[in-house]
Amino acid sequence: MSLGGDAREPRGVDGRLEALRAVAFAALDRAYAPYSGFRVGCALAGADGTTHPGCNVENAAYPAGICAERGALLGAVARGTREFDLLVVATEADEPTPPCGLCRQVLVEFNPTLPVVSYTRAGKMARWTLAELLPNPFTPVSLTHT
Ligand code: THU
Repeated sequence: MSLGGDAREPRGVDGRLEALRAVAFAALDRAYAPYSGFRVGCALAGADGTTHPGCNVENAAYPAGICAERGALLGAVARGTREFDLLVVATEADEPTPPCGLCRQVLVEFNPTLPVVSYTRAGKMARWTLAELLPNPFTPVSLTHT
């Protein structure tokens, strides 16, 4: 199954998958998750060929913590990338985990059909599209009113 290659990125996202997986697990190793003990890493692939790592960063004031996926997205936008081809998530859970609801909402703003691939440390993999994970999303067009 193709993950939707792009003429601007000759190798396409399929060709980048292994590299993105390595970036995601390297980010997982840098996660700061002393409260939950649940470390998450991710790699967000820009349509311009850039790669943006993220990890969860928790806080003693628990709600102030932020997920790996939103960390990656915020960093990417700050660097000037707003078009994304693929999100790769890495965890140490027994089963591959999708992004949480808040992260789905933040991601849908930029690509409602973003492919998402999730790996466990043991090598299990699952893939979805953001459209599957967040059907009927609230997007910029939802703000239209007359
Ligand atoms: N977490 C993420 O980083 N990404 C997700 O998609 C799910 C949850 C983090 C938040 C918190 O630091 C820990 O995992 C446990 O929920």
